[in-house]
Amino acid sequence: MKFFLDSFSLHKEQTDCVIVGVFKPCRLTRSANNLDEYSNGYISQLINQGDINGEIGQSLLLYDVPNIIAKRLLLIGCGDENNFNSRSIIKITKNIIKILNKRSIKHIIFSLTELNFYKNNIYWFIRKIISALKKEFFKINTFLKKDVYLNSISFNIIDKNLISLAKVALTHSLAIDLGLTAAKKLSNLPPNICNPLYLSLQAEKLSKKYNNIDVTTIDINQMKSLGMHAYLAVSRGSENKPYMSVVQYSGKNVINKKIIILIGKGLTFDSGGISIKPSQNMHEMKYDMCGAAAVYGTLIMAAELNLPLNIIGILAGCENMPGGSAFRPGDILTTMSGKTVEVLNTDAEGRLVLCDVLKYIERFSPDIVIDVATLTGACVVALGNDVTGLFSNNEDLVNDLKKASQQTNDKVWRLPLFKEYEKDINSNVADFSNVGNGKAGAITAACFLSQFTKKYHWAHLDIAGTAWESGVNKGSTGRPVELLSQFLLNMSHYTQC
Ligand code: BES
Ligand code: MG
Ligand code: ZN
Repeated sequence: MKFFLDSFSLHKEQTDCVIVGVFKPCRLTRSANNLDEYSNGYISQLINQGDINGEIGQSLLLYDVPNIIAKRLLLIGCGDENNFNSRSIIKITKNIIKILNKRSIKHIIFSLTELNFYKNNIYWFIRKIISALKKEFFKINTFLKKDVYLNSISFNIIDKNLISLAKVALTHSLAIDLGLTAAKKLSNLPPNICNPLYLSLQAEKLSKKYNNIDVTTIDINQMKSLGMHAYLAVSRGSENKPYMSVVQYSGKNVINKKIIILIGKGLTFDSGGISIKPSQNMHEMKYDMCGAAAVYGTLIMAAELNLPLNIIGILAGCENMPGGSAFRPGDILTTMSGKTVEVLNTDAEGRLVLCDVLKYIERFSPDIVIDVATLTGACVVALGNDVTGLFSNNEDLVNDLKKASQQTNDKVWRLPLFKEYEKDINSNVADFSNVGNGKAGAITAACFLSQFTKKYHWAHLDIAGTAWESGVNKGSTGRPVELLSQFLLNMSHYTQC
């Protein structure tokens, strides 16, 4: 798919289809008005006849419009002009793609960029529309198993001065989409293919593709010498050895000296171990590596855009299986930090893997650490499938993540880490137990992690409810690649808003 940005004389362009908008009630956009004049009122006549009034979801495909060179003209209902937002863009995009893909339309000129969106900001209009288009194409390819005929989209930017800003938005959008798609594809692989070794090999490939990325792989022996006994315990029941990838992205002309670390839970399969899960839906635990995949995707975005930052991504690959050498409920583990943990449930394995990673990364003296994990079923109970749980020990980091979340509509909601929760993970035989008392499970899990993150600003994203969708169109959502990408773009002072 090719994208172009230019100022077009709409009536003169040779293309398969020109797309212009109509607002409710019966109000032509600037581009529509322009074509109406060239066609001697052809469009307004159709509106007066009642063929379209601008309601969102409406459309009218026209052929042989007088004095218009394009093969077709698509009028698209855009709804209420004063209420035009990113949800309107998504609805309009779905509608347009449905109409276009029924016909073998290859090239279109999209003249909706003058719509009143986010204070008329062309940057955000382009970002939102490309994100919506790419998501539609992904659905057509993967769920409908169909090809997309469309192969080139030109955006009409009426004000020539805005073309360069629109180009920045296009570059950002395409890099984010590349990362998002890579994350989805990796997460969707079956667990017999995507095991910890496979995950680490994907990470190593990044260093071959991008010269601003270096990768170190920590294997089981190195984990032993580092004393990562909680991480190692989780992997003990599996034939597949654990691998932890350390992906170092070093930007040029770094403007923000902060060391940012992104950690992804990479359980390529979580059976629950000896505390085995019920078999219904157990297959979905192949998605227990979606945190690692999101970190992988976000690094691809950073490397593509050459962000002026220093980022370290950790993919914590591991498999949780029952077996003769598996760890058990009752075991007491000594974590890399020296703190001990009483295992009361081997299915609460994510926090065991992560607590050793959170200690390991102290060696990089990080300023900001964000971990991304499908950590608790309790988070799904608390927030459902549309909102990611956010926990943090730093207000500025929370505000920055919330801002990026609002910009991308990749929703998060903060849950508390009050001291009161700490008693829930008390143990009388170790420093902590690995589970709480069954209440506030998302918080007690985060509270457990927070015991290992005191040396830096830290946020934890529990993506258990948001990382994938179930059912006939099952698959990874790639979340929170968009949120993390926006967070990094903001740190690079790149965003135009
Ligand atoms: N990977 C799961 C969390 C999960 C469950 C994510 C369902 C998405 C959907 C995690 O390792 C886990 O099993 N957590 C347990 C913790 C419990 C034993 C305290 C859970 O949530 O049931
Ligand atoms: Mg588990
Ligand atoms: Zn898990």
